[in-house]
Amino acid sequence: MVAYYAERAREYERIYHKPERQPELQRLSGFVVETFAGADVFEVACGTGYWTQILARSAASVIATDINEEVLAVARAKDLGPTVTFQRADAFALPAPERSFSAGLSAFWWSHLPKSQIAGFLRGFHRVLAPGARVVFIDNAYAEGSSTPISRTDEHGDTYQLRRLDDGSTHEVRKNFPTEAELRAAVEGMAREVRVESLRYYWILSYKLRGE
Ligand SMILES: C[S@@+](CC[C@H](N)C(=O)[O-])C[C@H]1O[C@@H](n2cnc3c(N)ncnc32)[C@H](O)[C@@H]1O
Repeated sequence: MVAYYAERAREYERIYHKPERQPELQRLSGFVVETFAGADVFEVACGTGYWTQILARSAASVIATDINEEVLAVARAKDLGPTVTFQRADAFALPAPERSFSAGLSAFWWSHLPKSQIAGFLRGFHRVLAPGARVVFIDNAYAEGSSTPISRTDEHGDTYQLRRLDDGSTHEVRKNFPTEAELRAAVEGMAREVRVESLRYYWILSYKLRGE
């Protein structure tokens, strides 16, 4: 997965150009701008900074992290201004926060998590955020005829796709499509004001951390 996204860095944002997805992407952008207005945001697995750029329109500050220097180089080249900092960090071993973050975002990361590691990832992510912080995950819904087909399911219930890059290489990538019930169950006990919005191509999970 890490190597796949390093190789894909330069062609990554093409997925945001699919014409049929533009109305929903507009809606997601509007949601992000509105939700994070004035917030100090910690972003996980920011990739090439597509959503960081949108966050930067309204957030007070953004620390955007990813494990891959290749995608961070593309993100940094966007020159998003003094309120945005890109840092290398492993989502499974996030650094102790240097300051308090009032919000967290991760886009198109949940679907790549092994189901067995979701709880551990969430504990680490939530530790970086202040009590009561707003948390948002955005990801893909499976859209028949538009999504890459599932190539196999493993013994843990994780599903995979076979993806081809411009250089002709093929990569097997874990890609899960959780149900609303699974999303709600994953944050039960840690979150309040839990909302799941299911669109045709995407879903949004939004909640506030307990403890305020
Ligand atoms: C599907 S991309 C999403 C990128 C970006 N959030 C977006 O929505 O455009 C997944 C990202 O996860 C990153 N990644 C993979 N493993 C990671 C890890 N252990 N910690 C942090 N980032 C990771 C990849 O480098 C890649 O940029």
